[in-house]
Amino acid sequence: MNKIYLAAIVTTLAMLGFTYVAMDIKGGLNDDIVNQLAILGAVVLVIATVFVVTKYVRQMQTDKATGDLTEENWDGIGEYMNEMPFGWSVIFLLTIIWGLWYWTAGYPVAAYSQIGEWNEEVAAKNASIAQRAANLTPNEKLHLGKAVFNVQCAPCHGTNGKGQENYQTGDLRAENLNKRALSKKYVEKVIREGSNQLGYAGGMPPMMLQDDADIDAVATYIEGGMKGEQPAQYAVCGSCHGMNGEGMDFVAPSLTAYNVDLVKTLLTSGTKKGEIGTMPREAKILTPLQIELVAAFVANGPATELEE
Ligand code: HEC
Ligand code: HEC
Repeated sequence: MNKIYLAAIVTTLAMLGFTYVAMDIKGGLNDDIVNQLAILGAVVLVIATVFVVTKYVRQMQTDKATGDLTEENWDGIGEYMNEMPFGWSVIFLLTIIWGLWYWTAGYPVAAYSQIGEWNEEVAAKNASIAQRAANLTPNEKLHLGKAVFNVQCAPCHGTNGKGQENYQTGDLRAENLNKRALSKKYVEKVIREGSNQLGYAGGMPPMMLQDDADIDAVATYIEGGMKGEQPAQYAVCGSCHGMNGEGMDFVAPSLTAYNVDLVKTLLTSGTKKGEIGTMPREAKILTPLQIELVAAFVANGPATELEE
């Protein structure tokens, strides 16, 4: 047999052997379809490569230089305008396809990652917590809500929910969540411009209330906690916010208190850029159960002492 073919067969077997040992060293081939397909691809490539290389080596032994030279030459040394060798092009393309396939369908992208494992474990944990949470008493829910609040909300709203100030400027930096305090200025702005800060579907359109005196009367009444005589113009607001400002679930928020519906809607919606600052999107990091619990805790009043 021709020496070149013998060398080719020995090289092929050696490369296949090395590939197999390298892949299987940690049991990588055991019922792992991705690795099995990858090695199949590698085998095809190795065989094709050895075949093509053998062909060109033989050709080099017998070929005479023919064909046209390119225009440039360097001290009399020129370059042939040869076509790209067909076999070489095929192997080049196959290697790219194999590499792309392995990258996308194989390990780097599709399979095991530490982040994936982390996400799976968190999902499983959350599911088991949700199952246990189904049987909690209301008081236990408040305690769990408090735990969420202390971690996720207290850094801005304070441990008792009374809000936090910037001690240098005296600016209020996060809302006091124990009572819903709407300033006159803000209510006036909402009446004139509407609101879409709280995540209620469609938001609130600007109101038809035009007269400054009417707006002033309504805003003063709301700022005062809706006590005393109700201005007649409040009827406009009452159709959505309730005649006592108690709000209606899914329709409009309470104007007097942070109830479960308001807090949940706010947390699951986007960012609140309100009167005093920006409340970042919290729902990103909270599970539905955590939102449920923390909303119950806020509605109960974060500063309210809980039963043991
Ligand atoms: C058509 C129903 C509707 C009417 C009428 C209505 N509102 Fe609203 N209002 C809403 C909704 C919905 C929201 C919550 C919007 C959101 O997602 O930010 C809201 C929010 C508010 C807020 C809270 C904004 C915030 O950022 O906390 C105030 C204050 C308010 N309304 C005042 C009024 C007043 C005063 C009137 C009467 C002049 C009025 N609304 C009439 C639907 C209504
Ligand atoms: C990074 C600081 C920050 C964190 C963390 C934070 N908030 Fe806020 N929150 C704010 C700011 C600032 C406002 C005031 C927005 C405004 O001007 O209306 C606010 C407003 C609110 C409001 C009142 C909205 C209104 O219009 O009256 C509620 C309810 C609320 N936050 C609940 C929560 C809960 C529950 C958490 C924890 C899951 C939380 N926030 C975490 C900064 C924060």
